[in-house]
Amino acid sequence: MPCVQTDADLTALNTFGLPARARRLLRVRSSEEARRARAFLDPKGDPGLILGGGSNIVLRGEPIDTVLKVDIPGRRRLDETETSILIEAGAGEVWHDFVRWTLDCGWPGLENLSLIPGTVGAAPVQNIGAYGLEVAERIDSLDALDLTKGELERFERDACQFDYRDSVFKRQPGRWLITAVRFRLPRRWQPLTRYDELARELAERGLGDSSPLTPLQVSDAVIALRRRKLPDPAELGNAGSFFKNPVIEAERCAALLAAHPSLPHHPQPDGREKLAAGWLIEQCGWKDRRLGPAGCYARHALILVNHGGATGADILRLAANIQNDVLERFGVQLEPEPIFI
Ligand code: EPU
Repeated sequence: MPCVQTDADLTALNTFGLPARARRLLRVRSSEEARRARAFLDPKGDPGLILGGGSNIVLRGEPIDTVLKVDIPGRRRLDETETSILIEAGAGEVWHDFVRWTLDCGWPGLENLSLIPGTVGAAPVQNIGAYGLEVAERIDSLDALDLTKGELERFERDACQFDYRDSVFKRQPGRWLITAVRFRLPRRWQPLTRYDELARELAERGLGDSSPLTPLQVSDAVIALRRRKLPDPAELGNAGSFFKNPVIEAERCAALLAAHPSLPHHPQPDGREKLAAGWLIEQCGWKDRRLGPAGCYARHALILVNHGGATGADILRLAANIQNDVLERFGVQLEPEPIFI
């Protein structure tokens, strides 16, 4: 049976460090324990909260009935073909440790996603991405328990309906508990350095010119970039980017550019343009500004932080103020990235 704790404090289980209590906290260490944990869920009540590293949630503070904390371990190589290596990891593995393990084993392909907080099982939920790579590009398939039926289902990559920071699992919170994820990593590795900031960092380190880059060098550069720009949740509570980068029609982007020539924008495959939410927020004067104990990070305006003692309500109030200002000034609606509970 899963390990059960009653009246649990969730403050240390979310990287924002927001207070909330759960009537029951269940730690599940296998797919079988996950199945048994269903007995604790109220079929007519709220669905259970499925928790990985708690790095992409905002707890509003209302009491939660049942939390399922996924602690399923395991890492192994399943198969190898001429072109790829298939790796499987338990959903509870810490994402960054898993990435470094693949590199240590000589299986590159995930290095651009180094140091992203959270667990392996949470990575597909919001299709984590950084420095020119989304995890969807490396996922082969995954196993998820349907908590409404108690059946373990295999999802091939296409069935996950991945999109920018989105998947079928994010759209149905509380339904799918991911137990294991399989990654297909390329045998013939090519460094992904199309992201300007990463290319600059590697150039500044004098890498890639005279001798070929190694996956570890790319991983180390990504780690350095993240440490410089993003707050460590252990020191300053946060959930990474708080808003998605908005994608708008090309004509609207052209109109905005006429008024704001320095607006950063990136053309998308569908002809639309992706804007930098951090830039929009900074232009509205929010960078390094506080509203009570919640604030906008000094080194990156897209990160909302808990300066100490903030509640979910404080974070939501700050987010709503930022959204209003960006909407008023640029006519762009910012959509939050984390899940609100
Ligand atoms: N910018 C500003 N001011 C700021 C922050 C950013 O003007 O305070 C502008 C700059 O022009 C910069 C541009 O925004 O060039 C983009 O900034 P950055 O390279 O930091 O990337 P981002 O778009 O803000 C995205 C992801 C991050 C990911 C980085 C690196 C989203 C919502 N966020 O951020 O992912 O690490 O790219 O690839 O797509 C996350 O999802 O939690 C996350 C941290």
